[in-house]
Amino acid sequence: MENSTVTLDKIIALCKRKGFIYQSASIYGGLNGVYDFAHLGTLLKKNIRKEWLKSVQATFDDILEFEGGLLGPHAEWEASGHVENFSDPMVDCLNCKHRFRADEIDLKKPCPNCGQTKWTEIRQFNLMFKTQMGAIANDDKANIAYLRPETAQPIFVNFKNFMSTYRIKIPFGVAQMGKSFRNEITPKQFLFRTREFEQMEIEWFCKEETALKDFAIWIESRKKFYADLGLNMAKIRFYEQTEAERAHYSKACTDVEYEFPFGFKEIEGIAYRGNYDLTQHSKFSGKDLAVFDEETKQTYIPHVVECSVGIDRLLLTLLFDAYHEDVVEGETRIMLKLHPKMAPIKAAFFPLVKKLSEPMLAIYKDLKRKGYEVEFDESASIGKRYRRQDEIGTPLCFTYDFESETDKCVTVRNRDTTLQERISIDSIEDYIKKTLNK
Ligand code: GAP
Repeated sequence: MENSTVTLDKIIALCKRKGFIYQSASIYGGLNGVYDFAHLGTLLKKNIRKEWLKSVQATFDDILEFEGGLLGPHAEWEASGHVENFSDPMVDCLNCKHRFRADEIDLKKPCPNCGQTKWTEIRQFNLMFKTQMGAIANDDKANIAYLRPETAQPIFVNFKNFMSTYRIKIPFGVAQMGKSFRNEITPKQFLFRTREFEQMEIEWFCKEETALKDFAIWIESRKKFYADLGLNMAKIRFYEQTEAERAHYSKACTDVEYEFPFGFKEIEGIAYRGNYDLTQHSKFSGKDLAVFDEETKQTYIPHVVECSVGIDRLLLTLLFDAYHEDVVEGETRIMLKLHPKMAPIKAAFFPLVKKLSEPMLAIYKDLKRKGYEVEFDESASIGKRYRRQDEIGTPLCFTYDFESETDKCVTVRNRDTTLQERISIDSIEDYIKKTLNK
């Protein structure tokens, strides 16, 4: 019997209990909007990065990988428009001093925290983390640096370098995965809105003539990516922004949204950004970022299509989508029905009793040495060991029993169906591979 009511509290509790994610600096009371990824969370993130890069590289041939610096100079973020415009409206309750994003509450109504209606004026709050470079602490612009609020700008700033060092031609893309920082006024919903998070962004440089066609190709590619992750596509929608909703330089923008228990929310933005970014950096740096077109013998500033998704937000999406509760043998079990290729642990190995540990340990160690993420567990009843693995989404559990010594077989149990079959020890690796490629 299935009962899949999932709540944010259940996800948070599972992440902490099983070692996916911890609140940062929790022994000091925690740092709001910052999380640490423990072993299982790190493995899940690694799987997300791998699938994203594979998907991006399958869309077009010429994709460069990149890891830009986390700090950027004032000039870079001034050119991008972030110094002036990257802000959210903020309002405080004069009575309880609680702070809110002004666009998220109704100021005609009382404060949701204390019930009084005494608001400050709305002020714009810039979301970038600002710091000073070097030993001189003054507000001279030359000494100011910002932690990047998106990974995209270091790509634009290096555009000329890509062109000259790789002798690459338009169209091509630059893919980057890495940390971004935003001093969000109200971090919330666990990993959904944090102050430190990781993005996966592809900036696709192309000619204006092909941009809308390429934009459509990227949308199809992103649809395939989410379907291949095993997400329930009935909960995903692609929302085309209206002209009024788009940034002034953006010619088309589609948000990928997932239906969380707190409503449909954006997990990725796909945007045709025109040639705004390279034009701005040309203007502010004084460096010509135009390219020469061999066909028309003219120079032009390339246009950009961008796909931008947060790893943390996608990880949260995967957990919400995979979370299931059902009743097995009269007991409620929690299960993460992750696609096997996304599961942090691919298989678990159990000796039926401790005195059978040695041969099972040898099988487990062999697969571990070959690079598989596997676990060995010899404590508690087999049923309990299955539950432990179900909770972290392990698709397969192998048990070595008293027959194994003579028939050279083990029992494999499937997470989703709980069905068991007997297979030869020699075929365990192939069985795992087959399951991962499903
Ligand atoms: N370069 C474009 C850009 O950064 P964005 O819509 O601001 O666009 C893209 O961010 C994605 O990054 C979002 O769809 C979301 O997945 C993720 N993201 C943005 N802010 C976030 C935050 N505070 N916490 C977690 N993820 C965030």
